[in-house]
Amino acid sequence: MKLYKILPIIAFFILQSLVAKSQKKSIDQRVDSLIHLMTLEEKVGQLNQYSGAQATGPVTPRQSYMLNDIRSGRVGSMLNVKGVKDTREIQAQALKSRLKIPLLFGLDVIHGFKTVFPIPLAEAASWDLEAIKMSAHIAAKEAAAAGIHWTFAPMVDICRDPRWGRIMEGAGEDPYLASMIAKARVLGFQGEKLGKIDEVMACAKHFAAYGAVTAGRDYNSVDMSKQQLWQIYLPPFKAAVEAGVATFMNSFSTLNGIPATGNCYLQRDILKKQWDFSGFVVSDWGSIGQMIQWGYAKDKCDAAFKAITAGCDMDMESESYKWNLVKLVKDGKICESLVDEAVRRILYKKFELGLFEDPYKFSNEEREKEVLSDSSHRSFAREIAQKSIVLLKNENNILPLKKLTSKIALIGPLGKARRDLLGEWVVKADESSVTSLYDVLLQKVGKDRVSYVKGCDFSSVSHKGFAEALNIAKQSDIIIMTLGENCSMSGESRSMANINLPEVQEDLFEEIKATGKPVIVVLMAGRPLIFNKIADNASGIIYAWQLGSEAGNAIADVLYGDYNPSGKLPVTFPRSMGQIPLSYDYYNTGKPVKDPNQLSIRYTSAYIDVPNAPRYSFGFGLSYSNFNYSDLKLSANKINGKEKIDVSFKLSNTGKVSGEEIVQLYIQDVEASIVRPVKALKDFKKIKLDSEKSTIIHFTIDKEKLSFYNDSLQWTAEPGEFKVMIGAASDNILLNQSFELLR
Ligand code: GLC
Repeated sequence: MKLYKILPIIAFFILQSLVAKSQKKSIDQRVDSLIHLMTLEEKVGQLNQYSGAQATGPVTPRQSYMLNDIRSGRVGSMLNVKGVKDTREIQAQALKSRLKIPLLFGLDVIHGFKTVFPIPLAEAASWDLEAIKMSAHIAAKEAAAAGIHWTFAPMVDICRDPRWGRIMEGAGEDPYLASMIAKARVLGFQGEKLGKIDEVMACAKHFAAYGAVTAGRDYNSVDMSKQQLWQIYLPPFKAAVEAGVATFMNSFSTLNGIPATGNCYLQRDILKKQWDFSGFVVSDWGSIGQMIQWGYAKDKCDAAFKAITAGCDMDMESESYKWNLVKLVKDGKICESLVDEAVRRILYKKFELGLFEDPYKFSNEEREKEVLSDSSHRSFAREIAQKSIVLLKNENNILPLKKLTSKIALIGPLGKARRDLLGEWVVKADESSVTSLYDVLLQKVGKDRVSYVKGCDFSSVSHKGFAEALNIAKQSDIIIMTLGENCSMSGESRSMANINLPEVQEDLFEEIKATGKPVIVVLMAGRPLIFNKIADNASGIIYAWQLGSEAGNAIADVLYGDYNPSGKLPVTFPRSMGQIPLSYDYYNTGKPVKDPNQLSIRYTSAYIDVPNAPRYSFGFGLSYSNFNYSDLKLSANKINGKEKIDVSFKLSNTGKVSGEEIVQLYIQDVEASIVRPVKALKDFKKIKLDSEKSTIIHFTIDKEKLSFYNDSLQWTAEPGEFKVMIGAASDNILLNQSFELLR
């Protein structure tokens, strides 16, 4: 490019960085000058967070206690205050304090505020990063319009154990997919730069490895090698830092014997030193005080000492900091600089958000009304719900249903459900705004063509509803069964020792199936369930997770082909409880089985009662189209560490309808200084193709995609053979070739 053209660009970037530096410098200066004015009590106040709904109305003793602390400058943040009216009123109390430092208002806007989007695990099944980012952006827009500055999301905990109820809240089992989704969600919530009134601070949680709790039991211990921690569980957190996430939340769990809240290795060595994280860390609810129950702290004073020393900046609801930090400083047990560092991190964010210029910036009644009634949010909710649905089975192409002609029997406890379709972490929506599948089918095919019977409860053993269900089944052409979990069967503190679909639901399915009519099962749940009888005998199976406000419409859109399903599983579905934990990136072992789908001969790493293979694999999902993969080409079969390989192949839609295909690139490091998995996801693309069309897809392999944490935790790529695999699923590799990384 000619010099006269490039000079203005260089000048622009120099100016930009000077402005940014000056802005940062001015915030740093403003933070310094404010800290200089603060008493030790006021500094500790900034580290204290209370949960409270509103300041007005019948003020309970608890509220007057909190309001008194707020007015005295002993509170830095509130959570669970929703709406312009209440945030304004509580903020007004904070501005009565000596230094008038505004409060931060935080809330669990996990998958939507008023408009509820699919639960995060469902959105992960879309593999659609732009859609996931938009979902977070709309959630932020609605929350920010309601006075919220900060969401406690994205939850980026990798999970390979569906017994853990919070698997619904993350992005599944794979570090690469979960890292891409973490970035998308952080950017969706925060935008490129904090301070806009339609964005909120994000919070990467729960740091770290909370999804690996022992036996899938919530709040339990976590024990793993540092190599596993770095290779599998930390990458999404690192990705969140790279995306500029404003805050972190530590975890209720321990890591190798030390509670995350008091874990210096996690919060100081890794997060604040190695990753140079400049935001702040909030504890989980009461987790500082809970170090006493863990047997890691003698009392709240000791807990406060251990948490602040380990780098936990803000105390959510344990009051350990409030009652002990001043004394710890005055007794010389901790330096005031430790407190100052935490205060600085928190104040910096308040300045970045612009709260000192205008503490009511996010609390505007007019904007709240306008944003919360924006109908475009609902239409997007339907779009991302469609994309999150996974078609698991479609025998003889029974789906999509022929238009409107058949008589339908809608059977099962979720047919008319509304609140259950929203899942956990619903902070503002009301269930009357949710479209049930029954509502939509009535509109679509008319009330004389749809009959509904609940048939059974979620898990009670009563069969008394079976006869009525059988009756309508016999009078119908098509049977759609809606089975799965209600909204209280997954989520926080909802671990299940048995993730088989409740027996009564499988019994109902078997009775209905015995009519000999085709049965389509729509499964809705917050986690992978085990449903082998249905998997073997249903004609069609759709996994519809918990899809949010537009669940009914999205499911009907897929059932009738108004949307061609494109979702693929972000997590492995076991065929037996005994296989858990189970993931696609297993190790080959020294005695590998020949075919993981078959019961194996002895003296191989297998069970004698079930095959190793899952019921449905990571990356699996069907479409109404058919996609063909061919012509794999590598631009080189030997590279050194500085070179890259272009991987290309042809994708064709040989089906009759246009559709989207999620193509997946896996790599195996065949031999290394520590054992490496049989494959690891290293890239993916979601490609839309019309019927009979083809396209050439390209991926780039560089040293980064060949690297791993070795036994000394160095991030390195070792010379040797690598296998490139292109798949439609982790267990459906369609093209593969090898190449060599040279010394
Ligand atoms: C809960 C959750 C955490 C949430 C916090 C505030 O216990 O563990 O994810 O953000 O408390 O509600």
